[in-house]
Amino acid sequence: MRIYLIGFMGAGKSTLGPLLAKELGYSCIETDNLVEKLAGKTIPDIFNIHGENYFRELEKQILHFTQICEDTIICTGGGTPCYADNMKWMKQHGITVYLSCDDEVLIQRIASNQKGRPLFTDAHSVLKLLRSRIVEYQKADLQFSNNDSQELTLKALVKALKKNYCV
Ligand code: S3P
Repeated sequence: MRIYLIGFMGAGKSTLGPLLAKELGYSCIETDNLVEKLAGKTIPDIFNIHGENYFRELEKQILHFTQICEDTIICTGGGTPCYADNMKWMKQHGITVYLSCDDEVLIQRIASNQKGRPLFTDAHSVLKLLRSRIVEYQKADLQFSNNDSQELTLKALVKALKKNYCV
């Protein structure tokens, strides 16, 4: 089974992914890390040197590579579901889980951890980007709000996965 964690920057995918993996006895990978390895560059360098389109191409290649992963939590980048046919592809190849958060929580988390996030400019533009993406995020098989306690989100998520997908 593959479980794709999706959601905007700051939604907590990278924090929750390893916790969920541990709980289920799964592996955990991050598409952003694999893109960096493939390119031999950091994400900001990929954006600066080659541009966003090139990043999206690598991101799609890495996503397709994940079809060989079994029993794995795949933490995706915030934009992954919103380019090419990535959302449709993820739904065909695993369970998609959308981690949502209130605007203020997202802004606060992104602002306090901007490193590696070339798309963070200012709160207004970021929220505009979020609004344009929500339609794709909401196609996910499951959705959980992840504002406060990771523990509570994890518990609810494990329960739903066991009940609906027998993981
Ligand atoms: C992006 C989010 C980032 C990273 C890249 C682009 C986006 O991942 O993939 O900077 O388009 O929202 P995180 O969601 O892990 O910050």
